[in-house]
Amino acid sequence: MINKLGVIGAGYVGLVSAACFADLGFKVCVVDYDTQKIDALKNAIIPIHEPQLAELVKKSINNNHLTFSESYNDIEDCCAVIMTVGTPSNDDGSANLDYLYSATRELMNVAKDGCVIILKSTVPIGTAKNIMKLVPDTKHFHIVNNPEFLREGNAIYDFQNPDRIVIGMSSDEPKAIISYLYSHFIKQDVPILFTDNTTAETIKYASNSYLAMRIAFINEITTLCETSGANISDTAEGMGMDARIGKHYLHPGPGFGGSCFPKDTKALSYFATSNELDLPIIQNIMHSNLNRIEDLIEKLHSTFSSNQCKNIAVLGLTFKANTDDMRDSPAIPIVKALLKNGYSLKFYDPSHTTQIKEYLDITLQNSIDEALDGADAAVILTEWSEFQLISPQKFEHSLNKKVIYDMRNILNSEVILKQGLKYFALGFSPSTL
Ligand code: UDX
Ligand code: UDX
Repeated sequence: MINKLGVIGAGYVGLVSAACFADLGFKVCVVDYDTQKIDALKNAIIPIHEPQLAELVKKSINNNHLTFSESYNDIEDCCAVIMTVGTPSNDDGSANLDYLYSATRELMNVAKDGCVIILKSTVPIGTAKNIMKLVPDTKHFHIVNNPEFLREGNAIYDFQNPDRIVIGMSSDEPKAIISYLYSHFIKQDVPILFTDNTTAETIKYASNSYLAMRIAFINEITTLCETSGANISDTAEGMGMDARIGKHYLHPGPGFGGSCFPKDTKALSYFATSNELDLPIIQNIMHSNLNRIEDLIEKLHSTFSSNQCKNIAVLGLTFKANTDDMRDSPAIPIVKALLKNGYSLKFYDPSHTTQIKEYLDITLQNSIDEALDGADAAVILTEWSEFQLISPQKFEHSLNKKVIYDMRNILNSEVILKQGLKYFALGFSPSTL
């Protein structure tokens, strides 16, 4: 039924999707215009940090289920092609669809009649309908939305264990191919929702914006706890015990980042504004998130200056743990503000991300010890488990002013305080620690 599956875009989502479909037994060919990336992938060199991805790619290359190319001609015989090219934000918050349209046009020039073009990239509401207008009169393609719900750092698990599969289409014609593509999951009774294109696009944006809003909400509750003296951990736990709320996405942090939440909340807000809709919750999620980052910058500066800290060890730069992705990481504005305020900084990130230079003119230390060496204080920006494993004795011995600012609440405050350190965390005013 599916002779060969094409995937356009060898990024975080495209590469995971291709490797996982290949692992299910499909013959998959990944096309990307980045020839360096394609050359590396042909040699099973993975350009991103995603747990278990390298092993999966190597396995699928070795059993001839996964190939890479920079030429669309290598997917001209595919009866289904998945689009996972980037849809980054424009300055006004709208999604930049240039890559998507150019890749789709190039595909339509070579794709065989009846090809199912599957939009996995997050695309603004109404995009599928606009792409249908690109289909040449001489050809018949099916445009299907199939939004991804993969968390970076957990992407393979999330692909292999989806809560649901969402399919948007304008007729039942592509249903057989899509059902075949997802037959493994359908057999496992994974819910699959078949709906129209616009609704599938809306489900993706609404889901991501809702999750982003949850994070912005718990971060505002965290600020409230810092004033009221309430315990944010117990507050989040007590909220999460309500089945209607649930315990996930209630962890306080320095604000949400990544290539999706900021981009998608901005795009949904842009859709509301450009349609002259007054949707204050949706249109203020980003405002709340940026407020959070500014508030924490002030708190950091106040804590460091009142404790005479000048040399700071910055632990974690990626937008979350278990990824090397720096896109929209809250660490970027926080580090820029600390540098602007004249602090001397040393950095460590377990991913050793090579994306640093795209955002900050800094260098990474090779180890936690090197970053802590000579520091007055440490700030934890990302919840890498390596940071939880740093002993209180290590912190106490390394930090001249014995100050730790834990922006992920991952350390045990009792143990840290017992070691004689000054521990600052989210949701806790110093007096309650
Ligand atoms: C992308 C979209 O940005 C996101 O909205 C969607 O949810 C999933 O796909 P991501 O995988 O993180 O997310 O994108 P990125 O890591 O930027 O990879 C995109 C890839 O597409 C890059 O390798 C780029 O070289 C490639 N690309 C882009 C093409 O091959 N052709 C193009 O025309 C544009
Ligand atoms: C998200 C969605 O979860 C995923 O379904 C979608 O396909 C892509 O966008 P991702 O951005 O990779 O995935 O990471 P996620 O784990 O959702 O975290 C997003 C941001 O929220 C990170 O900055 C993270 O640190 C933050 N976060 C998450 C919190 O601050 N608190 C939480 O409780 C959860």
